[in-house]
Amino acid sequence: MQTDELTARVVKNEIRYGGYIELTLRNKAIALNAQPGQFVLLKGHRGLSPILGRPFDVADTNPERGEFRLVIKPTGAGTELMKSLSPGTEVPVTGPLGTAVDVTNFRSLAVLVRGVGAAAVTFLVRKAWEEGIKIAVFLSANTAERLVCREDFELEGVDFFTATDDGSQGYHGNITDLLEPYVAEHVPEAVYTCGSKRFARFVDSLDAAGRTRGFVFLEGFMACGVGNCHGCAVKRRNAEGYFLVCRDGPVFPVSEVVLP
Ligand SMILES: Cc1cc2nc3c(=O)[nH]c(=O)nc-3n(C[C@H](O)[C@H](O)[C@H](O)COP(=O)(O)OP(=O)(O)OC[C@H]3O[C@@H](n4cnc5c(N)ncnc54)[C@H](O)[C@@H]3O)c2cc1C
Ligand code: FES
Repeated sequence: MQTDELTARVVKNEIRYGGYIELTLRNKAIALNAQPGQFVLLKGHRGLSPILGRPFDVADTNPERGEFRLVIKPTGAGTELMKSLSPGTEVPVTGPLGTAVDVTNFRSLAVLVRGVGAAAVTFLVRKAWEEGIKIAVFLSANTAERLVCREDFELEGVDFFTATDDGSQGYHGNITDLLEPYVAEHVPEAVYTCGSKRFARFVDSLDAAGRTRGFVFLEGFMACGVGNCHGCAVKRRNAEGYFLVCRDGPVFPVSEVVLP
């Protein structure tokens, strides 16, 4: 794994999708080396509070421009500070971190995502699309405006389904109502999920029934990001011991981890 513990320069900072931060950052090493499934630790400031960088999935890269993109849901002190980052600012960043996902062995896959969980799979979807893999995207949110990263999934040939809790776009209800018959008809070889515990359990049930192979993007409280502090341990399922989300993940076969 090649990491670059340096800084990144803010290229663009926009509030999108009804309150999410979309950050474009310049750091050549990360833009060149990051792969789907990997993340960075980013601090939106140079002070000591909060002291640690926060983990964010790499939503996409542009190696030619030396840029990469993050989509961030403001939740607490660290992410609130990121709202006001202006272009040209240098911020501490470490990455790429984590184990990359290789989808090239699959001929077909689906992703089931909600909220900012969508940002975890955009890079994977683009790479899989470039490989000619058949893809179906199931994206949900409480309302249409919050269908995060929706334009990333509007790719030719991709089956794209949306659902909203208030019915303002797509299916009015639970998006797993759409995934279930899709799996029955098309039998995608893998389903990746992020952003919802309920989705993780649903994908686990599909996997357990042998209907597809399920994979889950897990989160964990992170300090070091490289396997030293053990702050991000998750229990193995049907085996002794723990995985470290930062080193062994953040993407795991759903059958191998105890779901949160
Ligand atoms: C590998 C990985 C990738 C991630 N990718 C993204 C991403 O692409 N976009 C995004 O918006 N978020 C992502 N997250 C979550 C993000 O890192 C946290 O929301 C962020 O660290 C919160 O920092 P904060 O200082 O704003 O909030 P804090 O003040 O640290 O926390 C605010 C609240 O959120 C809870 N919280 C904080 N971190 C986590 C966590 N990891 N798991 C569960 N609860 C938590 C705290 O308990 C607290 O209640 C990712 C997390 C991991 C581990
Ligand atoms: S964050 Fe330190 S071991 Fe994972």
